[in-house]
Amino acid sequence: MPSPQTVPVLQAALVDLLDLGLQAKQAHWNVQGRSFRSVHLELDEVVDSLKTWQDDVAERISAVGGSPDGRAATVAQSSQVEPLPSGNLKTADVVQQFSGRLTAAARRIEATFGDLEADLPSQDILIGIVAGLDKAAWFFRAQLG
Ligand SMILES: [Fe+2]
Repeated sequence: MPSPQTVPVLQAALVDLLDLGLQAKQAHWNVQGRSFRSVHLELDEVVDSLKTWQDDVAERISAVGGSPDGRAATVAQSSQVEPLPSGNLKTADVVQQFSGRLTAAARRIEATFGDLEADLPSQDILIGIVAGLDKAAWFFRAQLG
């Protein structure tokens, strides 16, 4: 059963997931250095996961009667993901940046679970996404040695 918090909680997760997807593609195109190929390919795997999660969250908003807002201006105004620098990115920096950003997004979403105790289907969607974000963060973190 959707609660009054359902749509704002899901919308906040949606903009972070959209921003992470844009940032992962930006890094996929701009990364340079050691282990280029594996980081370049890993970033696209993350983009694929993020697209699935974006769709799951946006369609849950619609399913409970809300209106998902994935416009570029909305993402720019409301994402809580730390911005990515412009230009070329070193592989070692990208590994740190994505380990950090994916983990931070997971913790922000996790902090909303308590707001969704009356809406377990929405909570369940976000629980799965947090597990996926943690796994993706681990894939980057493991490269730090
Ligand atoms: Fe590509």
